[in-house]
Amino acid sequence: MNIPQPFQYQGSKRSLAPRILDFLPRSMDRLIEPFAGSGAISLACAGRGRSKRYWLNDVNQPLSNLLDLIVNQPDETADFYESLWRDKDSDHLNKFYSVRQQFNETRDPRLLLYLLARCVKGAVRYNSGGDFNQSPDKRRLGTQPARMRSNFTAVSMLLRGRTTFSSRDFREVFEETSKKDVVYMDPPYQGVCNTRDHRYSSGVEFSDFVTGLDELNRRDVRFLVSYDGRLGDKSYGEPLPDFLDLVLVEIEAGRSSQATLLGQEVITVESLYLSRSLADEVGAAPAYLSNHSMEQPRLLEETAKYDKVS
Ligand SMILES: C[S@@+](CC[C@H](N)C(=O)[O-])C[C@H]1O[C@@H](n2cnc3c(N)ncnc32)[C@H](O)[C@@H]1O
Repeated sequence: MNIPQPFQYQGSKRSLAPRILDFLPRSMDRLIEPFAGSGAISLACAGRGRSKRYWLNDVNQPLSNLLDLIVNQPDETADFYESLWRDKDSDHLNKFYSVRQQFNETRDPRLLLYLLARCVKGAVRYNSGGDFNQSPDKRRLGTQPARMRSNFTAVSMLLRGRTTFSSRDFREVFEETSKKDVVYMDPPYQGVCNTRDHRYSSGVEFSDFVTGLDELNRRDVRFLVSYDGRLGDKSYGEPLPDFLDLVLVEIEAGRSSQATLLGQEVITVESLYLSRSLADEVGAAPAYLSNHSMEQPRLLEETAKYDKVS
């Protein structure tokens, strides 16, 4: 099944989702994503009817509000995007900068949608004052409105009526989990904490995260974490400690495009850690999953080229 995405988002797990789903129970009461981003794993599960309910949380409040709007008001949100996208009164780069300024003044989630569709690599960046400061992708105008609308319709069909949205720190979400839940976590890359304004973007301290996972273990809450990884021989991120008793599955995510340009074969490997209780339930043991097709996952899709606008 082709899983729709609500918007392009750097770090989306959309291309790895089918492999991650192999380690989730067939049937869940509630799947929680404390670091939702674009909610790729919840959407993939919803497409397969794997969970009765979903909880999408992201500390970035406009982002979490945007997910809510896409799910609960897909047509109105698509209309707003289309009117911004089709407005030909201004040069497309000036338009981006003006929307960015408006977003920084208002935090309107619908403006964030336009910025995500138009910015470099769909990568959310905030400056130390908490203002969105990512640049526009000069070669592309962003997802076509018709494509955006059909994505929203599909996303809404999958999640509407069964999803809760929030914008809290992950620790507060952990406190509200129970044994009936399954928690999928994809925290930001370790060491990423570049802003003083923690309302919209925040880092995750390694020690806080480990303490939180330890607590989930004590309460027997089942969880999975996408965390560190490897690029060829080089590891990135600190591995999660042994005392958490997690089961590590390494997944080949594809070739590094940078290395391919240099004529090298460097494989990106992502770590997926399973809590012991979940691993026992789904019958998982430590493993290395190779990817024979070796397709480089595509981050940006269905975006309109600048020269195609009429
Ligand atoms: C790597 S992204 C998740 C991507 C997601 N798996 C997807 O498929 O789109 C990590 C997310 O964690 C959020 N985040 C960062 N710090 C957080 C915190 N302390 N609590 C909750 N969310 C946080 C970021 O805003 C970001 O959207």
